[in-house]
Amino acid sequence: MADLISHLDGDLRRRLHDLAHKTRITAYGTAVYLRGLIEFSNICKQNCLYCGLRSGNKAVSRYRLQPEEIVDCCREGYALGYRTFVLQSGEDDWYTTEKLVQLITSVKQLYPDAALTLSVGERDDECYTRLYAAGADRFLLRHETASAPLYRALHPTMEYSDRRDRLSSLQRIGYQVGAGFMVGLPGQTAADLADDLLYLQELQPDMIGIGPFLPHRDTPLRDELPGTVENTLDMIALARLMVPDALIPATTAMGTVHPNGRELALQAGANVLMPNLSPMSVRGKYMLYNNKICTGDESAQCRFCLEQRVKSAGFHVEMGRGDSLKHLSRS
Ligand code: SAM
Ligand code: SF4
Ligand code: FES
Repeated sequence: MADLISHLDGDLRRRLHDLAHKTRITAYGTAVYLRGLIEFSNICKQNCLYCGLRSGNKAVSRYRLQPEEIVDCCREGYALGYRTFVLQSGEDDWYTTEKLVQLITSVKQLYPDAALTLSVGERDDECYTRLYAAGADRFLLRHETASAPLYRALHPTMEYSDRRDRLSSLQRIGYQVGAGFMVGLPGQTAADLADDLLYLQELQPDMIGIGPFLPHRDTPLRDELPGTVENTLDMIALARLMVPDALIPATTAMGTVHPNGRELALQAGANVLMPNLSPMSVRGKYMLYNNKICTGDESAQCRFCLEQRVKSAGFHVEMGRGDSLKHLSRS
């Protein structure tokens, strides 16, 4: 696998992307699922070297949306047609298990036909179990990198084994689970990327988030080179082949690194988009990396911009819950 990854070019690359496209068509047809992303707090106790929200970054203006404000975002999203809401944040302990349970309960009472995805980082089994019981359907927790030494170098406040342990717990509890990794991390080798793919094959997650690493000016990795579009597309295509029925987003980071990055990702095996539903007042404060796109665009604007982009790339938008095929075959 590492050998293949380091020798991909020209013709081979085209064939790989084409095969991934065909595999996605067989699994999901031309559907592209839209998820409304609500970035509800940029407060984080962790200190991941790559991330603009890391606790060591004193230059960020911190914010936390109140539960009512999050419900308002869901209301706007529901009216725009979204039937999946993704609630994402830094690891913010103000949002205790109780507060999250109340929030999930309110959203699910208002919109029982919508799916709720959490992306709030590492919590204990009891918390994950209670959030699931309250109605959360899915959980995104990227494994970030399958290389133990690289993981340790990038995560001074976290443990490599904890991450994998958390992912297994989430699966055991019953969530549709999303793992994934960054491409082009400083020091990352082709063998590390091969391990990322093999880990995904072993885990068989419902969702796979893959995006380029992009530097942020106020982090220790500010001077590092970003991951490339080509390498990220290759990883998306290989992930599609290794977990054919996964839901794979064309990430915002792909749209940041290249103007048509998301469309290219859709053509290399991705089948999900996650436009922003956060209030305009906080958009610019959830900066994981430099130059993040859509920070100045209204939710409705992104919704329709993406519809056009999806069509121009040869696909069609699906606004349903869009559960993973793996999940549907389990239930
Ligand atoms: N705090 C939660 C967590 O870490 O799982 C959820 C929010 S975190 C900002 C979501 C994802 O952003 C991470 O899993 C990481 O892969 C990605 N990310 C953070 N900084 C990044 C960067 N500089 N470039 C690309 N992706 C980045
Ligand atoms: Fe916090 Fe997540 Fe950023 Fe790490 S990646 S610093 S856990 S928000
Ligand atoms: Fe946000 Fe195009 S997706 S403006």
